[in-house]
Amino acid sequence: MKSKSIRAFAPATVANVCCGFDILGFAVDTPGDEVVLTLRDDDEINMLAIHGDEGRLPLDSTKNTAGVAVKSLLKRLGSSQGVDIELFKNLPLGSGMGSSAASGAAALVAMNYLLGNPLTREALVEHAMESERVACGSAHADNVAPCILGGFVLVREYHPLDIIKIPIAHDLFCTLVHPHLELKTEDSRKVLKPTVPLKDAITQSGNIAGLMLGLMLPDFKLIGRSLKDVIAEPIRSVFIPGFNLLRTKAIEGGALGFGISGSGPTVFAISADHENALAVGKIIKSQFANYKLEADVFVSKINMEGARIVENS
Ligand code: HSE
Repeated sequence: MKSKSIRAFAPATVANVCCGFDILGFAVDTPGDEVVLTLRDDDEINMLAIHGDEGRLPLDSTKNTAGVAVKSLLKRLGSSQGVDIELFKNLPLGSGMGSSAASGAAALVAMNYLLGNPLTREALVEHAMESERVACGSAHADNVAPCILGGFVLVREYHPLDIIKIPIAHDLFCTLVHPHLELKTEDSRKVLKPTVPLKDAITQSGNIAGLMLGLMLPDFKLIGRSLKDVIAEPIRSVFIPGFNLLRTKAIEGGALGFGISGSGPTVFAISADHENALAVGKIIKSQFANYKLEADVFVSKINMEGARIVENS
């Protein structure tokens, strides 16, 4: 065993990326959650403390996403190792920025490290999905996979899990704008229809394929044309004040595409350069201000590394 205590960071993620409901996601550089894990001399999985959540998250390790992910990993390894988990929440709850995924991913990467990295990053993803199951009732992987693996990720299949990191051919910049509203993923999933009309399935499939090709060539115009969602966005966008105007303004401001980050209410835009991503952030923030909504702006490259160990102690 290399050390007894370790700190790990896991970034925010943008799930769905418009056309890829539950199958596409990418990681950003900041913000993100951190954990400190310390091995215990007994077999208890103990949530020692949570900072930054204003007391809202459960300290019960069977209900907290970090605790659930670690338990799932230990079960797979047949290990009775106990651990103290201290969680530093920097991501807002119910924001659509992959907050629950980041806590689970950071804890998993830290625990795996403390045990001498018995599992690959890819193998950690299914344990992080267990944390999504407790967080919102659905074990989707479009936040946890990019959070753990980094980059732009396609979940081609769930049964069995088949995750592919898309070889993106050009740096892309993401603007995340988080209005001070809260939407629970569980509720945002319940409003969706259980079936999709054939014509929408055709449109969505074309956009997914177009987006993949656009990222790999790269072809910015094709990326822009493909960042459309005819399945979840028409229903969910009603929860985001001024959504259609936000998109118009972001595109007029030079963004390649614009949409809801995960289940919202955070919105995201993709730009070909950093300056444009900053400018688009200002535009979207000022639009939210028209609705008397405070909003935080985060701009970063697509993060190719994912969750990482921060320091040894
Ligand atoms: N794909 C999930 C959803 C992501 O849209 O419900 C949740 O952040």
